[in-house]
Amino acid sequence: MARNDKRGPATDDTTGHEWDGIREFNNPLPRWWVLTFYATVVWAIVYWVFMPAWPGLTGYTKGLRNHSERANVAADIARLEAARGASIKRLAAVTRVEEVENDPDLLQFTLAAGASIFGDNCATCHGSGGQGFPGYPNLNDDSWLWGGSFADIKQTIRYGIRSGHEKAHVSVMQAFGRDGLLPPETISDLVAHVIRLSGGEADAAAAARAAPVFQQQCAACHGPAGKGDPLQGAPDLTDAIWLYGGDRKSIHTTLTNGRAGVMPAWEGRLTQDQITALAVYVHDLGGGQ
Ligand code: HEC
Ligand code: HEC
Repeated sequence: MARNDKRGPATDDTTGHEWDGIREFNNPLPRWWVLTFYATVVWAIVYWVFMPAWPGLTGYTKGLRNHSERANVAADIARLEAARGASIKRLAAVTRVEEVENDPDLLQFTLAAGASIFGDNCATCHGSGGQGFPGYPNLNDDSWLWGGSFADIKQTIRYGIRSGHEKAHVSVMQAFGRDGLLPPETISDLVAHVIRLSGGEADAAAAARAAPVFQQQCAACHGPAGKGDPLQGAPDLTDAIWLYGGDRKSIHTTLTNGRAGVMPAWEGRLTQDQITALAVYVHDLGGGQ
């Protein structure tokens, strides 16, 4: 077989292995390599002696240090729980938000816990800062659908809104247009009326035509002056804050189809301490009453 002469004259000092004409020289391994190799062997033996290493039928060799990451993590968690335990116990007993607010350590703990639970569970709908999106209320302002006291907020979080929980907030605004409760002209007039309630520009004659209809159809929930009713989750229609949008088209859609936004119940998914922490956090976002 032809040899590649660029690699110098052939010697017989090969291992005798040959693959497709490529032969393997039997040169000594580099010294640094051999020393490193022996060092790793020594290290492995030392490691077997001191650390958990060999699997057996009923477990594994524990090593002289009896080291266990699992035990270390368990110890860390136990330490953390011991450190938090006192705060959590106090949180569980809280009934008024002042009890937390007047205790700087507990407040700091609660807000940190609340922010983290909020990020995990609520931010998808309410935004990472609770700023809200159309249909998902802003939790930073002082306009509340279902009341902004600590107890109200806690109740809302616990049982949700139209969530199907038996203690959830219910009340559903009718789909006045879709279900034929009001004719299209009346709905148009009502849109003008609602826009004018919040100080916007709309046809005054149309709004006036809708005034008696508003008293008849809407006042029971939104109040005779349109100021809303937290017992029924009916928004204040006179302010500039809109859950679904204050433009003509959004209001028209609201009146035609209803909305009936759903907020899940958190009872059973979060612990009482977590719900309390969230209620304090939301209350503290700025608009708590
Ligand atoms: C699936 C979406 C969704 C998630 C997740 C969600 N919410 Fe809501 N939330 C809503 C909707 C929709 C409303 C308004 C319902 C309505 O029309 O009355 C609401 C209303 C509220 C209200 C009442 C606001 C008011 O003005 O009275 C509070 C407080 C609240 N959410 C807090 C939370 C907290 C805290 C969490 C996390 C544990 C959370 N929400 C998770 C959808 C959600
Ligand atoms: C049974 C109670 C009830 C009645 C009656 C009712 N509403 Fe509502 N309305 C609500 C509730 C609750 C909401 C909150 C939105 C939701 O369903 O998620 C709402 C929301 C609205 C909104 C949206 C406000 C926003 O911020 O986006 C408008 C506008 C509105 N109603 C106007 C009316 C008008 C006009 C009438 C009469 C034709 C009426 N409502 C009758 C309960 C009622």
